[in-house]
Amino acid sequence: MSTLQAKDIAQFLQDQSNKETLRFITCGSVDDGKSTLIGRLLFESKSIFDDQLEALKSDSGRYGTQGEKMDLALLVDGLQAEREQGITIDVAYRFFATDRRRFIVADTPGHEQYTRNMATGASTAELAVILIDARKGVLQQTRRHSRIAAMMGIRHVVLAVNKMDLVGFDEIVFKTIVADYSGFAKDFQFSAIQAIPVSGLDGDNVLLHSERMPWYSGPTLMHHLDTVDLTQVRSRGAFRMPVQWVNRPNLDFRGFCGRVAEGVVRVGDAVRVLPSGVQTRIKSILAGFSEVESAQMGDSITLTLSDEVDASRGDVLVAGEAPPEVADQFEVKLLWMTEHAMSPGRQFLMKLACKEVTATVTEIKYREDVNTGVHLAAKTLGLNEIATVNLSTSAPLVFEPYSVNRVLGGFVLIDKLSFETVSAGMIDFALRRASNIHWQALEVNKAARAVQKHQTPRCLWFTGLSGSGKSTIANLLDRRLHADGCHTYVLDGDNVRHGLNRDLGFTEVDRVENIRRVAEVARLMVDAGLIVLVSFISPFRSERNMARDLFAPGEFVEVFVDTSLQECERRDVKGLYAKARRGELQNFTGIDSPYEPPEAPEVHLHADRDAPELCIAQVLAALG
Ligand code: ADX
Repeated sequence: MSTLQAKDIAQFLQDQSNKETLRFITCGSVDDGKSTLIGRLLFESKSIFDDQLEALKSDSGRYGTQGEKMDLALLVDGLQAEREQGITIDVAYRFFATDRRRFIVADTPGHEQYTRNMATGASTAELAVILIDARKGVLQQTRRHSRIAAMMGIRHVVLAVNKMDLVGFDEIVFKTIVADYSGFAKDFQFSAIQAIPVSGLDGDNVLLHSERMPWYSGPTLMHHLDTVDLTQVRSRGAFRMPVQWVNRPNLDFRGFCGRVAEGVVRVGDAVRVLPSGVQTRIKSILAGFSEVESAQMGDSITLTLSDEVDASRGDVLVAGEAPPEVADQFEVKLLWMTEHAMSPGRQFLMKLACKEVTATVTEIKYREDVNTGVHLAAKTLGLNEIATVNLSTSAPLVFEPYSVNRVLGGFVLIDKLSFETVSAGMIDFALRRASNIHWQALEVNKAARAVQKHQTPRCLWFTGLSGSGKSTIANLLDRRLHADGCHTYVLDGDNVRHGLNRDLGFTEVDRVENIRRVAEVARLMVDAGLIVLVSFISPFRSERNMARDLFAPGEFVEVFVDTSLQECERRDVKGLYAKARRGELQNFTGIDSPYEPPEAPEVHLHADRDAPELCIAQVLAALG
């Protein structure tokens, strides 16, 4: 390679890395000509390789819908399945560049069943191109797309009124659509809406001004994307950097690594470490291997601090004068992303910035119709549904409202057993500050009560099918312990459901709440120094684990009363299995509602084989 070539390449790479990046999302469906418009942007910006062009020419004949013309939609409808069905099915990211900017386009399908895909694409986008078919005008899906874009924090919108060629390039049609859209978009707090009449198919107003629409004097789509001023939405706030990793190669160096989520940081700045609140100053900033004077939003850096302060992964370094809030109760928006419905009371893993905590939805305030925005009452949430809920976390979180800062306000919920991401969430505000919460320090504590009762407080948790023998065994054991002078109490599903839990039925949501309440009661009883015997079907692993987590190590003893369904059904003491089989009883465990057996119970009783006396001996042995 000649020196000249090497220089050119180096210059080219330098130019590329100096370019600003704009991430945007396109919203619309295939029928609106979305893929064609994106294809057109790629084509006009010369972001297509020669071999792709060749393939496109031959594919256009085979799969295309444009006769002799090149079908640009084929460029982006890359997946075979999509081509054949004529729909787009996933989030695809496309790249193109002009002399000024690099662009990353999130191309997501438009149907309601793909709401989660669209939200994923929108979550990192700064601008949304909302496509409208000029022949159809503003549709319900236009409203849905705008609502999701706004919810995901997008403030800049381009209203691309497409297929102008099919309405005779009529100015009135365009203006009516724009007026219609502006009317309902008032609710969404978009900071700028730029409407552009285009034809993706022919390229009108995409790169060059269309001679066929002389009445339009605004920017072309490409020009607008290239020049739209984003400084306002970027880096508005004070410095924030979640700590991703603490780099301690030797005793003399301690670097806090992370990506600047907001603002600017300079050497010498006063900063705080949250949640602890310790104050210090920035000693140095490293970007890669070089020291720099300052860094800004989006930069990945390592910071060293003037004082020896403690900070670990998940803590947040923030501007000393403008720290964010710390809280553990929030009002948030959730987008539910999985088939399995959300139950309030269930525990999830929550990831916000670099922090992981346990989180529980304590109340669904309302669900929102994604098309109309109407508020609806809801007990649970299904796939692609959006709701405003109250959320409680196991530890205080350093946060900001999502509308202020996406990094410190956006989070995901993860199923604790399957590790599937079940929801995306956005914090609206805190319900109370964490610093106001104090546990009442009680002088007579659990240990003191236990000593007085001469026993080790425990929760013996019996789980198994209805009719498995849980209650029989728990009652027999209770009598035995009582006779031995122990202070005990039995919490039995059938009894508790007559009082404390009489408002609950047998749907999954109700069972989750049933177990949450009884687990909390059991915890209070253990705290009071008692040995509590809990006898509930408690069919879900997740809630049994939740119960376990309420207790100190060794306090919770899970007893699996393992009796086969056939045997329970044969006994059918209450006649409920027969009823369920006749279809007169819904959601009956083992019949049309699942039972998830424990994976590692402390005690496993084979209650269809062993007599109750033998079973209680086994439990007593485990208690030691
Ligand atoms: S749990 O699943 O929520 O833990 P729980 O132990 O409180 O159930 O209550 C179970 C008892 O309720 C059963 O022993 C049975 O007598 C009664 N019952 C009534 N309907 C159902 C049903 N659909 N499924 C299971 N048990 C039911």
